[in-house]
Amino acid sequence: MSSQKSLLIRRARIILPDGELMVGDLLTRDRQIVEVAPQISTTTPTTEVDAEGLTLLPGVIDPQVHFREPGLEHKEDLATASRACAKGGVTSFLEMPNTRPLTTNQQALDDKLQRASQKSLVNYGFFIGATAENLPDLLEAKPTPGIKIFMGSMHGQLLVDQEGLLEAIFAQGHRLIAVHAEDQARINQRRQEFADIHDPAVHSQIQDNQAALLATKLALKLSQKYQRRLHILHLSTAEEADLLRQEKPSWVTAEVTPQHLLLNTSAYEKIGTLAQMNPPLRSPHDNEVLWQALRDGVIDFIATDHAPHTLAEKAQAYPNSPSGMPGVETSLALMLTAAMAGQCTIAQVTHWMSKAVAVAYGIPNKGAIAPGYDADLVLVDLQTYRPVLKEELLTKCGWSPFEGWNLTGWAVKTIVGGEIVYDQGKVNESVRGQALNFLE
Ligand code: DOR
Repeated sequence: MSSQKSLLIRRARIILPDGELMVGDLLTRDRQIVEVAPQISTTTPTTEVDAEGLTLLPGVIDPQVHFREPGLEHKEDLATASRACAKGGVTSFLEMPNTRPLTTNQQALDDKLQRASQKSLVNYGFFIGATAENLPDLLEAKPTPGIKIFMGSMHGQLLVDQEGLLEAIFAQGHRLIAVHAEDQARINQRRQEFADIHDPAVHSQIQDNQAALLATKLALKLSQKYQRRLHILHLSTAEEADLLRQEKPSWVTAEVTPQHLLLNTSAYEKIGTLAQMNPPLRSPHDNEVLWQALRDGVIDFIATDHAPHTLAEKAQAYPNSPSGMPGVETSLALMLTAAMAGQCTIAQVTHWMSKAVAVAYGIPNKGAIAPGYDADLVLVDLQTYRPVLKEELLTKCGWSPFEGWNLTGWAVKTIVGGEIVYDQGKVNESVRGQALNFLE
């Protein structure tokens, strides 16, 4: 491991915790930020970075990714995924339990933590997955950001779609429950109705807005009944956003993905099954309502739902083509490009991709640029536009639904625990992230 004890970043445009911009310097020591000031002088031996013209943001915390290890490493693994994170300015991730074996008990969680400690270039946390039978594991496993429930869109043991079983989970314990909210009964019924259609665009009709709304309503009802901390993963419809706008208890949060903000059903025509994900892409109207809900604080933060599949898997005819698309490499640049186009501010993007996530999951000392916070940072270039190029992607799956999009705000340098892990196209393979802590 490299032993870079101290890093001095000079003349950066720094986004401060209140969203204000300050041109100045930042000093790190032993993994933490120790000083942020217009000008810093130091006598400690220090690596210096001249960041003139670049913007310094807290590193992105991506709270929903599928990194496929163990068991599905032909799609992605913790080394390739965390390199992709470093390139995308993502310094921490929260990973989902649908790996093989499923992450449904302490042993499987410990195995993932062990693998990540050896391989992950960025910081990591792992959800524990709910089945019909593992309530004791859900209550006791640690460290974990929370319990993941697939209410729909999942096969096998991880599917918990019966109200009685869901209620048993909501009724016991206090820790955060994160739901994939789609109604499986409605999906099953509609899948039969549309069985003869192999155009991938039918995916958005089968798993329609109503399927998402029904499940989100049920999760909200149970959360209200037990005052249970609830997080709604990848909210995708105008109807769910309107529902939350009317009634959102203080203990409920929601996230949206860049693809549900920026892509819609018109993508099937251009990229076919590469646009297939769960919950599916929606209409331009849904895009607009989701943006407004995000700006108004109805939706709290951004997650990518990075879910890589190989091109060969995606080349199968619908419905045999798997759902999911990669995201960690492009999310920050996509959101900063939207900000530069006037959709929102840079300060909002950094709030949605760092601070708001740290607060929602109780991750201490992360998500802001201030003394005492961990030195997880990203320096971005907001002056240059460059396209998303397939040959530059680090994710093992090797494709992006955003190929050819011309983006700004690409990471120039990414810093994890005070060490430069990504530097203008080069990944420093010797850096290792740490396990995240979660305050309950
Ligand atoms: O599209 C999706 N793919 N949505 C999910 O929730 C799971 C994911 C996957 O693991 O492939």
